[in-house]
Amino acid sequence: MEQRTGDKERERRNDPEEWEELNIEISELEKMTANITGFATKAIHAGQDPLQWSHRAVVPPIVMSTTFQQDAPAKHQGYEYGRSGNPSRNCLERCIAALENGRHCLVYSSGLGTTTSLMALLNTGDHIVCSDDVYGGTNRFFKKCLPRNNIDVTFVDACNIPKVINSIQPHTKMIWLETPTNPLLKLADIREIVNKIKSQKPDIYIVVDNTFVTCYFQKPLELGADISMYSLTKYMNGHSDIIMGAVVTNRDDIGEKLRFYQNAMGIIPSPYDCALVNRSLKTLELRMQQHMKNGLAVGKFLENHSLVEKVLHPYLSSHPQHDLALKQMSGYSGMVSFYLKGDSSKFLGALKIFTLAESLGGYESLAELPSVMTHASVPAAERENLGITDQLVRLSVGLETKEDLIADLNQALEYSIL
Ligand SMILES: Cc1ncc(COP(=O)(O)O)c(C=O)c1O
Repeated sequence: MEQRTGDKERERRNDPEEWEELNIEISELEKMTANITGFATKAIHAGQDPLQWSHRAVVPPIVMSTTFQQDAPAKHQGYEYGRSGNPSRNCLERCIAALENGRHCLVYSSGLGTTTSLMALLNTGDHIVCSDDVYGGTNRFFKKCLPRNNIDVTFVDACNIPKVINSIQPHTKMIWLETPTNPLLKLADIREIVNKIKSQKPDIYIVVDNTFVTCYFQKPLELGADISMYSLTKYMNGHSDIIMGAVVTNRDDIGEKLRFYQNAMGIIPSPYDCALVNRSLKTLELRMQQHMKNGLAVGKFLENHSLVEKVLHPYLSSHPQHDLALKQMSGYSGMVSFYLKGDSSKFLGALKIFTLAESLGGYESLAELPSVMTHASVPAAERENLGITDQLVRLSVGLETKEDLIADLNQALEYSIL
């Protein structure tokens, strides 16, 4: 009986008309930080006000309780069951929303879980246009899971705007852009694509996977996208100890739907993980600045090395979309890809400071071979076509001393031709 009352209340809370009323408390807190504009100040204070806790904890507490005491049946203090709302999670969501200058943020148990949740905006029979060079797991999800729901996806080189436009079909409902792309670091001109598509078909959702540079360097919503999404696992958390994802949007209709689905589908992260990501955001600005410095130093070193064929780094003038990089982003992360001349297995095996491992965006430097690791699920012909060869190495340049990183790469490059 009690359980049924709880379910009813949860449904009531997910009714958009009730939404505003139940968020009054949150709006009050947001007003206090509304005039803060500095990124680092927001990272440290937005959503973190000690006044929201009766004990005034400065560091938001990790609230592990799955359930919350009610004053009377269906009368509670804003929280009832941990899946529909949790104080540690809400704290993090408010902080990420503020960093992106967005109205709504929702966090999920992984980046791919976030992608799954966004599919709830679509219906059977809909169509997606997606950047051709995306994270391998996104490619696999779109190709292997969505057809079961009769949703089909066209992959297209999003550097080429006419190609994106020409791929739109009458049933297209979503454009999925990853920029910069993983692992080739190609860029899509978000503002141009938004302008062209929205003038013809305003109903199409435009999603940007902003994982590679974060909202510190790129703000997709300000460039006109409907949704900015993240694997928080990467730079946003930055410590390689949490798997999580997030969506940010300024559109109330999308925010309300996703809030309903977050609870209804149950793809929520643990409060403990939320608290750790919330903690990590406090140093996001500092980390991103240092990732950029180290990544650029590594990119320049590789570009001048005789055993390197080609370096891919949007902030190097050799990148074919360097001008767009400067226009669209206010900086760039530590992601560097390059084609080496020697044996890639020997090179990766000889590294001492860079760890041979998947993932990216942590304080530690990682190196990997996309063709057999992160992008092994992309069909071989497609990989070949894109240029994801066995000579392509992807680096996530961390926060170690840059001279040590360069010395490590140098010795491994020399070993790769022995
Ligand atoms: C660009 C990008 N998007 C999404 C994901 C998926 O995120 P997660 O591993 O947190 O599910 C990844 C993972 O590597 C990624 O690199």
